[in-house]
Formats: sequence, structure tokens, C-alpha cells
Amino acid sequence: MAKYKKVRKAILPVAGLGTRFLPATKAMPKEMLTVVDKPLIQYAVEEALEAGIEEFIFITGRGKSAIENHFDKPYELADILRKKGKDAELESVLHIIPEHTRISYIRQGEPLGLGHAIWCARSVIGDEPFAVLLPDDIIHSTTLKDMVSSYEEQGKPAVMYEEVPLDRTHNYGILDIGDNKFNANGEVNINSFVEKPESEDAPSTCGIIGRYILTPRIFDFLAEKNIGAGGEIQLTDAMVSLCKEQVFRGFKLKGERFDCGDKVGFQKANLFFALKDPYIGPRLTSYIKDMQLTPKLVKTA
Ligand code: G1P
Repeated sequence: MAKYKKVRKAILPVAGLGTRFLPATKAMPKEMLTVVDKPLIQYAVEEALEAGIEEFIFITGRGKSAIENHFDKPYELADILRKKGKDAELESVLHIIPEHTRISYIRQGEPLGLGHAIWCARSVIGDEPFAVLLPDDIIHSTTLKDMVSSYEEQGKPAVMYEEVPLDRTHNYGILDIGDNKFNANGEVNINSFVEKPESEDAPSTCGIIGRYILTPRIFDFLAEKNIGAGGEIQLTDAMVSLCKEQVFRGFKLKGERFDCGDKVGFQKANLFFALKDPYIGPRLTSYIKDMQLTPKLVKTA
């Protein structure tokens, strides 16, 4: 039996405006942008389900109702598909999340930062450890599952990280690991964090990617509402305070990560999952080969 409370709940902040994808996101949440045949948000939900999460808390904002509709039971649609005998399509909409899972939605109200978004979920989380998944990052890996198992054994909060180029540290929360040693899996104890430092101030090049396991003690620090980098209430700053009381563990990403908050990362994710698809994969591969053989296809006008 696990020594610590199970990690059953996950917070997914989805209130962001998605300005980088305008005009596509003018009337549609960025989390509903399609990666091959599923909305972006569904990848994070499936990753969390794999890790044992049973309850999802979405922190939403204005114009995000399509997310709620997506995870709702599609009674009318199911009825039509059933009557038409479209069994495969019916299957694809009926089991988006398993029966035993629960979803709740909390409105953030004001865009005050990631730390504030997490703080909004405090009463639904109660006295339990929880995961945070930032759905802009599609993570094709079982590392979150490892983080959950490790928490349930050792009770240490955790973050996922990957090595980032030195000139990109200003885009990430960066781990301060001092002289701590990595184990063979790239796991490491963390001394502290710095949110989005310039390269000369970065204590390492290990950047937090959007997966965390936290304890409810974090809400006490978030309640202080300190303003950090970018004039926002930063989750990383509250983690700096929590880190003084509880050792954090860093888990190196084993697998693929796509930063879908960025147009290039988004296209890479589409390509990666499309190439894995048994119908699209071979057809796309042959198209790409043709493009390489016929350079005029790739020339811009
Ligand atoms: C947030 C966090 C940052 C983390 C990043 C991962 O930043 O504040 O610490 O490294 O997510 O994607 P954002 O990308 O929301 O600016």
C-alpha cells in the first residue's frame, strides 16, 4: 500500500487567450485546436488518466464553453450515430473520459497568472496532493505516472524537466540543484527554482515543463499573492517557498514533448501523431518524400 495519500486530482489551467494562434482562436479556445483528430486538451487528460488521475479541475475563463461541451455526454449526437449505425464514430465520442472520472470547472475571473489560476482550485483540492498539467505541452511519455508513483511512496512534490538551450532559460522555470547528483534516470533533488531567468542568472539549464505534483501547503504561499516575473502571480515563486520545507524531486522527461503554445511545436505535434496513425502515416510519408524529390512543392510563392 502507498505510504502517502494517492494523487487523485489534477488541475488544468485553460483560461489563456491563445493570442499566438489568432485568428483561429478568435471564437474557439486554443485548447480545442486539433492535433490530428483530437483537441489539444484531450492529450493532457489522457496522459493524466494514464497516471491514475480520477478528478479534473479545469480553471477556465470567458469563451471556453467548447471545452465543457467536449467532455460532456453527447446525448443527441450519440443517438443520431446509433440510429445511423455509425459504431466507430459513436465509440469515439462516448468514451472520451471513463465513467468513474469527474470534472469540475472554476472560472478564474481575472488573468492574474499561473499561480493565481492554481490558487482558484484550493477548495476543490482540499487536503490532498494533486497534479498540475499545463495543456499547451503535449507530453508523449509515462514520466507523469512515475512522478505520481514516486510521490505516493516518498511524499515529495515533483516537477518534470528537460534540458533547455541556455539562450531559452527566460522562457522557463529553472531548477536550482546546487551540487545534487542526478540518478541514472535523471531524477534529482531540487534546492530551489528561478522563474524565467536570463541565461547569465540561470542556476542550471533544467527547465520545468508543464507537469507538477504538489501538496496543498502550496496554497498558503499562493495566498500571499506575491507578484513575480511578468507582473504575474507565479506558481514557481510559491514553489520556492514550499521547497524550503519539502524537498522537491525533478523528473527528467523520458519521451517526447511538444510545446503547442508555439506554432512550430504545434505543427511538430501534428506531424508526430499523424505519422503514427495507420491511415495517415503512410500517405503522409509518401507526400513528404514527393516534396523532397520535387522541391518546387515546398517553394513559397
Ligand atoms: C509556465 C511556468 C514556467 C514553466 C512553463 C512550462 O510558463 O511559469 O515555470 O517552465 O510554464 O511550459 P508559461 O509558459 O506559462 O509562460
